[in-house]
Amino acid sequence: MRLDKFLCKSTELTRADASKVIHAGEVTVNGTVITAEATQVHENNHIALNGRRLIARPSRYFMIHKPPGTQCSNADGVYPSLLHRLGLDKTCDLHIVGRLDADTSGLVLVTDDGRWSFNITSPQKRCAKVYRVGLRDPLTDEVAARFARGLLLQGEASPTLPAGLEVVAPREALLTLTEGRFHQVKRMFAAVGNRVLSLHREQIGNIRLDIGPGQWRHLQADEIAHVGK
Ligand code: URA
Repeated sequence: MRLDKFLCKSTELTRADASKVIHAGEVTVNGTVITAEATQVHENNHIALNGRRLIARPSRYFMIHKPPGTQCSNADGVYPSLLHRLGLDKTCDLHIVGRLDADTSGLVLVTDDGRWSFNITSPQKRCAKVYRVGLRDPLTDEVAARFARGLLLQGEASPTLPAGLEVVAPREALLTLTEGRFHQVKRMFAAVGNRVLSLHREQIGNIRLDIGPGQWRHLQADEIAHVGK
């Protein structure tokens, strides 16, 4: 991880303060002063601030039930930031694993473990995300077949990965994706002439949303281990 991030994970410094002490030459890595905050370090390195060895805190893992009208970002923007709902220290360390649109609700994972989130978001890892989709027009059998084959979205060079569509009512379906392109669900239904009216993420890997809107909880060890493989 980056040296400034390591400092955030091992002290009470903010990212900006971490950069300042690094630039000031107060940080050593294995005995050498390092003044570039982007330097990659490993937790096993001997990293010290003014001669005192720093030990990184364990990584943190949460689920949040995102209500519509909030945004997946660290700072407030047009909509309030989802991370402020956690009411935790040092949310600047945390990142959202696979953003949802402001008007989408449902399961959002939050962590400071970059490798873990890569395993969830990388299309190569094929981690399944399940969305409950409400639609303007009734679904046809052909749509499931097209999603299973993969379809080319406007402006993209490669087709979508095969996606599972389970029709639960004429205008409602569960869609399972293993990738996360920009506005993917809305664009896939637009590509078959339909329109998404409501969108809610229910599951990521084996992690099922089991808390009410606006609530959050720590992930359990088995949930962390399963999706992080
Ligand atoms: N696909 C979308 O179109 N929007 C989301 O929020 C998530 C997936």
